[in-house]
Amino acid sequence: MSRTENALEKASRIRRSPQPVPAGRNGEPAATGAQGARIEHPHLVTSRSTFSPVAEEYKKLKARVMRMTKQEPFRNVLLVTSSVGGEGKSVTAANLALSLARDYDHSVVLIDADTRKPSLHTLLNVKPGIGLADCVADDIDIGSALVKVGNGNLQFVPAGKRHENPVELFSSQRMRTVILEMKSRYPDRYIIIDTPPVLLFAETKMISALADGIIFVVREGLAPLQHIIEALDLLKEEQLLGIVYNDAGPEGVNGTYPYHSYYRHYHSRT
Ligand SMILES: Nc1ncnc2c1ncn2[C@@H]1O[C@H](COP(=O)(O)OP(=O)(O)OP(=O)(O)O)[C@@H](O)[C@H]1O
Ligand SMILES: [Mg+2]
Repeated sequence: MSRTENALEKASRIRRSPQPVPAGRNGEPAATGAQGARIEHPHLVTSRSTFSPVAEEYKKLKARVMRMTKQEPFRNVLLVTSSVGGEGKSVTAANLALSLARDYDHSVVLIDADTRKPSLHTLLNVKPGIGLADCVADDIDIGSALVKVGNGNLQFVPAGKRHENPVELFSSQRMRTVILEMKSRYPDRYIIIDTPPVLLFAETKMISALADGIIFVVREGLAPLQHIIEALDLLKEEQLLGIVYNDAGPEGVNGTYPYHSYYRHYHSRT
């Protein structure tokens, strides 16, 4: 079984949680966002210390990602994408980042590279300030865009102001420099980049060229299989760490959803 299939199988166990428990209730500590704000989004299950089946699945995802990336050289720049919108990229990127940063396991920089529809600042309860697009467009040092979140192990780079041509912006040499600078400045940190859907917006493919690994999010029943295949065809197979099967019902991939046959197709492709 390939690494991707393995990752798919594990990730596919993510199930709908019975009911997400809002942070700060039931006595559990809620993580704090920047400016002392509390991370209270019900889908950021990894920001809380209470047990939940979904948080356990994110822990497994974290362990698997670590196993696949903690090697020589450290594959620390990870991109999160999907075929179409609304698959759960931002929720997945934020939960993975929080999970990695939890318990002081790792330092993580979470970057919102979706300037068309930025959402991570809302999830993390952070007031958006200088962001990635500003650092790239206006030659601003990326260090000045970093916002501390929670225990300080997680830093966040907002998307920045809307740019009229994100494809041009993110395929620029300056974008390459910004990401490579971060990689060399923070060689021991995970750098997780949330992006727009790759099938719809060309900048994601451009940004993917700068990543060491790609996590592809599929929400059960959302995108047609053909869209998923087309999207994966846009990405380099060797960069693909795996697929997070989001919002899966009790049947998951072992039931009616045809992911195994899809994978046979994908891997037999030349
Ligand atoms: N597993 C889940 N269960 C319930 N709701 C979810 C789940 N995952 C994501 N959502 C919700 O679905 C919506 C889309 O999720 P999210 O913003 O993470 O997707 P996205 O792929 O980043 O979307 P976009 O392409 O618009 O950036 C959000 O309202 C989010 O809270
Ligand atoms: Mg998003």
